[in-house]
Amino acid sequence: DKGGWSSFMAKEISEEPEAVANTIRGRVKDGQVVIPELDGLDELFSGITRVIIIACGTAAYAGQVGKYAIEQWARVPVDVELAHEFRYRDPVIGDDTLIVSISQSGETMDTLMAVKYARERGAKTLSICNTQGATIPRESDAIVYTHAGPEVAVASTKAFVAQITALYLLGLHVGRVRGSLGATEAAQHVLELESIPDKIRQILEDEQGHIEQLAHWMADTRSVLFLGRHVGYPIAMEGALKLKELAYIHAEGFAAGELKHGPIALIEPGQPVFVIVPSPRGSAVLHPKVVSTIEEIRARGARVIAIAEAGDAAVLPYADEVLRIPLAGPLFEPLLAVVPLHIYAMGLSTAKGLDVDQPRNLAKSVTVE
Ligand code: F6R
Repeated sequence: DKGGWSSFMAKEISEEPEAVANTIRGRVKDGQVVIPELDGLDELFSGITRVIIIACGTAAYAGQVGKYAIEQWARVPVDVELAHEFRYRDPVIGDDTLIVSISQSGETMDTLMAVKYARERGAKTLSICNTQGATIPRESDAIVYTHAGPEVAVASTKAFVAQITALYLLGLHVGRVRGSLGATEAAQHVLELESIPDKIRQILEDEQGHIEQLAHWMADTRSVLFLGRHVGYPIAMEGALKLKELAYIHAEGFAAGELKHGPIALIEPGQPVFVIVPSPRGSAVLHPKVVSTIEEIRARGARVIAIAEAGDAAVLPYADEVLRIPLAGPLFEPLLAVVPLHIYAMGLSTAKGLDVDQPRNLAKSVTVE
């Protein structure tokens, strides 16, 4: 039941605040992360020498965001691998490897096969999943459910923010267990995470109309590029994937620093480019670098749509449009910056008269290899 919304996707984007809040609920005690499902695993978390996150599509982009946080907090190397690539080479894994799978449906065949493969080779497996009792969690040693609620639209939206939330809870927990993260710092990050649902609500209230209007103006666009750095990089790729699958246009996400190594050749007058701008306070080193990237592409005629923190005036001289997100710590910005991109992809698909919930050639859960 769409509950009065024009599509399931519109409803599910509106539920992104609750998806984050419900995934946190019951997992914070006295300001610290407590995950009852992971009781008894302290020895495992202390002993691992690496983490490999395995997923496909949007879930893999959530994993790439999670990598930055888990490495920073838990001081353990994290690789993110597409399940179908991992499974068909000869990966170096053993009992000191923790495999973290991420899947909304819990039924994605590629991810399931990769988890089974890793388990047979002695790795411990932890599943982040949105569907109670699905096959992948049943095949895993430990489960952390995301509580985004059922997701009906084929394109994943609220599950994505819930996956990042679960990875952050995991990173904070493992960081505390390994002793790499102090209680005070962990408590600050928990507070920050708990403030995210209201900040997403604010984006929906302040920017949704503006973004849908922008998408409407851009209904004839043939190609859109997305740039980001650090945790903004996987968000750029998520923005591009959503546009491909929903609006059927060419879209690509790049690491902003990679631009001068090739992709800048694509910039011609009128090319729309979304740029995810890191916070000027939180990312004092990267912020000016991204602003100078914007300056460079603007000089070559790009039409720049900046996603920037409220109050960041440095982008104003170069951006054609600015979509504002509330202030958040650097690692937490992806949970905000992705919201305008989800709205934009839905808006462009709607402006083209397409079915946002059922894009062509796609299924909600991919149960074949
Ligand atoms: C994109 C999308 C897909 C899924 C991918 C994994 O919007 O929905 O890329 O993220 O097929 O699906 P799950 O999470 O069910 O394993």
